[in-house]
Amino acid sequence: MDRTSKIRVMPDSLASQVAAGEVVESPSSIVKELIENSIDAGAKNINIIIERGGKFLIKVIDDGSGMSREDAILSIERHATSKIKSKNDLHNISTFGFRGEALPSIASVSNFKLTTSSKNNPVGTELLIKGGKLIAVNECGSKTGTQIEVRALFYNIPARKKFLKSDSAEFSKIERAVIAACLSAPHIGFSLHHGTKCVLNLGQATSYKNRILDVFGSEFSEKLIEFSTDDVDGIKIKGFVSNPDYNFTTRKHQYVFINSRAVKNSSVSISIRDAFKGLIEKGMNPVVILFINVKPNQIDVNIHPSKEEVKFDNSNKVQRLISETIISSISSDLKSNNNSPDELADLSKSKNESDEFVELKQIHDKSVQLIQNNMLDLELSTSQEIEPSLEKEFKVLGLLR
Ligand SMILES: Nc1ncnc2c1ncn2[C@@H]1O[C@H](COP(=O)(O)OP(=O)(O)O)[C@@H](O)[C@H]1O
Ligand SMILES: [Mg+2]
Repeated sequence: MDRTSKIRVMPDSLASQVAAGEVVESPSSIVKELIENSIDAGAKNINIIIERGGKFLIKVIDDGSGMSREDAILSIERHATSKIKSKNDLHNISTFGFRGEALPSIASVSNFKLTTSSKNNPVGTELLIKGGKLIAVNECGSKTGTQIEVRALFYNIPARKKFLKSDSAEFSKIERAVIAACLSAPHIGFSLHHGTKCVLNLGQATSYKNRILDVFGSEFSEKLIEFSTDDVDGIKIKGFVSNPDYNFTTRKHQYVFINSRAVKNSSVSISIRDAFKGLIEKGMNPVVILFINVKPNQIDVNIHPSKEEVKFDNSNKVQRLISETIISSISSDLKSNNNSPDELADLSKSKNESDEFVELKQIHDKSVQLIQNNMLDLELSTSQEIEPSLEKEFKVLGLLR
């Protein structure tokens, strides 16, 4: 070997630890990755057990397909995945995972135990891994599904361990990740325990609406306006926004999903902000639970290892559809709540123009005006025509002449 060469190929265990810097940023990112694997494996029930904010233990148990002994051993190899086979698949991803990075990354920075059994297998497999090193492969029980235990997170990377926040702060992030998964997959039952506390226990739900009710309760759900659109050039959106007078100081009740994946996307945030402009006080935030469905080949999810960022081929179109749909659903709600201008006028007459009704009418008129302004802004900000499916609705609402 040339003694002057300085470049070395990293051993796999070191490469996994480096990759873990991006995939396994905190206990919540581990929970997210493990839940996604369970969903990809077709689980109907996922149980999550956390101790000390995930620093001491993260355990995820599913009743999905499980793995054979050979697959279990492969699953902890870097870049080993059952989800894509060729470059073409990368443009048509329909699973949460595809990078084959999560399990080896998690296993490289913890004490890791994977127990799994696939259907019709007489025995299951248990793998024990410490800091990325395979310690033992044992036979175990054969209940179909997979259980993963992550203990002593970052025990071998003190610098990362030091950056973990308090148990309760780390658990809050885990809870949000679990709630996001619950919202995007209502057909799956979930439970979440932190120490001795049962934080969530949700049976399988039959609709998004029922899942929201189960997670957040009736007072919250009653404030929501539901909406959905037809397919517009391969883009479909549905979801829930709060009535503008129900709002929060933080964005904690805002969840955006693209093809069921919880994402952060600035153009979507802008469209939400535009739709509510003037309708709620500055600094306050509405509830938004938004599901955007697009053809997998119209987006790129391979932007960051965490897969939380997604790029649209045509973000203007999506942005506009979101704003229009939210504005129209708030407007329809205003109209259907017995307080159209005519009805209010009648009511106010019969009540001798009581202060309450005059005030209500003023609020209504202001809201309609603001909604009209937001529509107009939207018109000016893009040169595209209004979607035909929404045009009729806007005319009915008096938002278009
Ligand atoms: N809970 C699970 N049930 C069944 N198979 C699993 C589970 N978790 C992981 N696997 C298998 O291990 C592989 C590697 O998982 P992972 O490292 O998360 O990569 P990816 O999800 O990107 O494929 C997956 O492709 C899948 O075949
Ligand atoms: Mg995965």
